[in-house]
Amino acid sequence: MVPAAHAAGSKYRAQLYPQLDTPRLSLDAFTDIDAPRVQVLAGVFEVADTTASIPHPYPDGAAAAWIAQQQPFWAAGLALTLAIRRRDNGLLIGAIGLQALDTAPEFGFWLGQAYWGHGYASEAALAVRDFAFGTLAVRCLAGRHLARNPASGRVQQKIGMRRVGCTQAAVRDGRIETVVEYALRADEWQAAAVAGQTGP
Ligand SMILES: CC(C)(COP(=O)(O)OP(=O)(O)OC[C@H]1O[C@@H](n2cnc3c(N)ncnc32)[C@H](O)[C@@H]1OP(=O)(O)O)[C@@H](O)C(=O)NCCC(=O)NCCS
Repeated sequence: MVPAAHAAGSKYRAQLYPQLDTPRLSLDAFTDIDAPRVQVLAGVFEVADTTASIPHPYPDGAAAAWIAQQQPFWAAGLALTLAIRRRDNGLLIGAIGLQALDTAPEFGFWLGQAYWGHGYASEAALAVRDFAFGTLAVRCLAGRHLARNPASGRVQQKIGMRRVGCTQAAVRDGRIETVVEYALRADEWQAAAVAGQTGP
């Protein structure tokens, strides 16, 4: 198995940023033009509240800075962040990514609140899961969510991730919360794919 950092670094560093298509979505690179909409979508308390790192209130300039770091992080094999856009109208509706690609790859995602409940997160996560295992050759994918955020857990279950634990952790603003942990190994992904269980 090729380590993720090596796969990302050697095979993809010199190539264009990844672009993934699903039936309803296009997942591709953020650009400067997206920054005002990122601030609007991610600036909603209900979106930020259950994430590890979206600031609230969302400061001016933070979206542009976040977008600016994405290409260098990908080029260095550290992280992949993709915009989630609807294919029918090109509208940006959220973000999905893989952090810690060089060590312990971990899923993260958020959607603008108006777009919750339509299966978009599961559809995007499925594509990123298959890209992570099938193209980047990661050996294991991790995921986490706050216990009070069952929708995120459901998304992870729908793409075949297993609940592997539960812990108390200091999260946003130092608050102690219960965090549920998920994982999926490459061999489990392979077995599910062979069995035809690739969809949510
Ligand atoms: C988590 C989030 C991305 C889910 O997006 P989404 O597009 O609504 O997700 P999907 O529609 O693909 O799937 C959600 C699933 O959770 C289920 N769900 C939603 N609310 C739920 C609840 N309170 N309890 C149990 N299940 C719930 C839905 O029924 C659906 O499952 P189903 O398809 O089996 O019916 C979205 O709520 C969000 O952006 N939240 C804020 C940011 C965030 O928390 N990100 C994750 C950080 S770990």
